[in-house]
Amino acid sequence: EKGGYKHFMLKEIFEQPQAITNTVAGRINLESGKANLPNLGFSDEQLRDIDRIFLVACGTSWHAAMVAKYWLEKYAKIPVQVDIASEFRYRHLLIDERVLTICISQSGETADTLAGIRRAKKMGSKILTICNVVGSTMTREADGVIYTHAGPEIGVASTKAFTAQLSALLLFTVFLGQKRKQLSLEKSLQLGRALVGVATVIEEILPSLQKKIASLIDDYYDSRDFLFIGRGLSFPIALEGALKLKEISYIHAEGYASGELKHGPIALIDRDMPILALVPDDDVYQKSISNVEEIKARQGRLILIGSEGDSQLANISDDVIYLPRVDDDVNPILYTIPAQLLSYEIATRRGCDVDQPRNLAKSVTVE
Ligand code: M6R
Repeated sequence: EKGGYKHFMLKEIFEQPQAITNTVAGRINLESGKANLPNLGFSDEQLRDIDRIFLVACGTSWHAAMVAKYWLEKYAKIPVQVDIASEFRYRHLLIDERVLTICISQSGETADTLAGIRRAKKMGSKILTICNVVGSTMTREADGVIYTHAGPEIGVASTKAFTAQLSALLLFTVFLGQKRKQLSLEKSLQLGRALVGVATVIEEILPSLQKKIASLIDDYYDSRDFLFIGRGLSFPIALEGALKLKEISYIHAEGYASGELKHGPIALIDRDMPILALVPDDDVYQKSISNVEEIKARQGRLILIGSEGDSQLANISDDVIYLPRVDDDVNPILYTIPAQLLSYEIATRRGCDVDQPRNLAKSVTVE
């Protein structure tokens, strides 16, 4: 049942190219760029009429929502608010018929997320569910559904469901951008091809990446704390990396937006503090590099994850993981993979049960 892998988590990490491909397949025309979500459940007019989007989710799915905000605001040009479902369900909401509420959930059964969409629906919002489980409660209660075709996810730590959620959300961004006449077919085509392409890239690098990471963790697996940092599209991926590590290895880990470091967390940095920094060569690269230099100056133990061919990185740390260059917008999908593998390798080295971490359930159906 684990297909030759030691754990479901590892199997599911390796299933990601397929999960992404299946999620994208048939939903964007790779010649014309036209996005196609036939069973979405909203008319073109409804999609044009919405004036704000709320994204509601928990845990890893909330991190997917944070990435989607950047995409949706950039390409569909619509204001997006991201909420943790347990906050959303109880806070004062300004919601009406012109709001589209999108819940993101692997299981479709998370209690807080479900309560959130019920509340938004009562206030007149339309509901879209992005979900991995066919026929789950959230899919039944929504006006529209986009399925992530990741296949069953057994490991408690979400991996392939997350990268499939990102893929579905980028597709939806393209779709909405087209419907609202904010996104050209040319740019859509570029994004569609980037999505398909990143699946191939992940497929190619996974085995060697796992080896590289396994060889690097000797100096890190024993740590008590870990920081993950990133900027822009990499910020939510830093949060996701920290969540993955803490839930399966029980190492205390925090994710931060790189620019926030000097507002407090930099005080934690000394020669014992490991920091994983995501530094792809993107539009905020120079800023990310300055943040990393500040950490180096304080003797922090840096693992850098950056772009192939970036010669600056080796001057900053001995521990650099290079990833192929892909379209900036799909970097969050690619940069998720090393953080997953790092958590997996560290947790298994520490003898932890990665598929069934203590105190956690796969689906949180109570508040
Ligand atoms: O099924 P859902 O996507 O609604 O679940 C949300 C969270 O409970 C889930 O992502 C959780 O954070 C995972 N254990 C993360 O790996």
